[in-house]
Amino acid sequence: PDLEALRDVYASQFLIGAAITAEDLEGIRLELLSKHHNAATAENAMKPEALQPQKGTYTFEAADQMVNAALDAGLRMHGHVLVWHQQSPAWMTTRPGEGSPLDREEALDNMRTHIRAVMEHFGDRMISWDVVNEAINDNPSSPEQWKGSLRQSPWYHAIGPDYVEQAFLAAREVLDENPDWEIKLYYNDYNEDNRNKATAIYHMVKEINERYSQEHPGKLLIDGIGMQGHYGLNTNPDNVKASLERFISLGVEISITELDIQAGSDYQMTKQQADAQSYIYARLFQLYEQYAEHISRVTFWGLEDSKGWRAAFNPLVFDRNLQAKPAYYGIVDPD
Ligand code: XIL
Repeated sequence: PDLEALRDVYASQFLIGAAITAEDLEGIRLELLSKHHNAATAENAMKPEALQPQKGTYTFEAADQMVNAALDAGLRMHGHVLVWHQQSPAWMTTRPGEGSPLDREEALDNMRTHIRAVMEHFGDRMISWDVVNEAINDNPSSPEQWKGSLRQSPWYHAIGPDYVEQAFLAAREVLDENPDWEIKLYYNDYNEDNRNKATAIYHMVKEINERYSQEHPGKLLIDGIGMQGHYGLNTNPDNVKASLERFISLGVEISITELDIQAGSDYQMTKQQADAQSYIYARLFQLYEQYAEHISRVTFWGLEDSKGWRAAFNPLVFDRNLQAKPAYYGIVDPD
């Protein structure tokens, strides 16, 4: 059937993205991708371990192919990810052998060098970067104390609690040297519908941006907050709304960066589960429409249900045969 393209439905509001692998850029998968989407994120190809597996050895070929093919297909590319505690090589943060953290200066140098090399390499082919991913603990107990809510990650152990700010300063320096690039710098995290986690994220971004604005009037260091959006049938859209409103109040832009809603299991779901999934997708898109002025992009974490990190739980909008699910119809007509 000739379905309405999701990217057309939301054209005046925000970009519609998908996480992609190389095979999504060929044949019928590319047709589905470019019909419904106008943005993409590499699911794995631009993570630190993929781009700099050994110190000073950059492996850009696969990512370059992906980025160029996506741009040729008319998609904008979001960069994911510069600083993270997963899928990042140990050498960046940790001494070989006993595994103790590197000295602060050495880890900072590794972080800055990676950020600069990767951002300069991809240049203005990107519209935005996740500079830091998942720095805050799940459900922190004293979330106003955002430093105490930081995940005890290898970056944290080596550099200390200012590693987040240092990463953004390094990325900002690259952008300042390239004034004609239009690239937004994002902090990205999951479980952002959890009130305590959202509170810690809020205070972290607020303090870092306020400090920067004092020296650079009218400018932000962190341009945007990415709400990953890995949800399930128990997710309450009102909690998503509460976090979204708080983040917007910081004056940053928002993207929904990794949206999926698990429903069912073992690659199966009942009609009831499919309808419930459609309903939650619809509620979320109602919310995104309401705040569209502040939302740049809504990206699904995959193209269809048969592949991807939570495939067994049928999380996406198209099924394994690339056919539209009830979720698709909920998104096209959320009211
Ligand atoms: C996931 C990928 O989808 C998987 O293929 C990989 O094995 C692990 O990472 N948060 C993120 C993403 O920021 O990078 C993760 O992607 C999903 C959770």
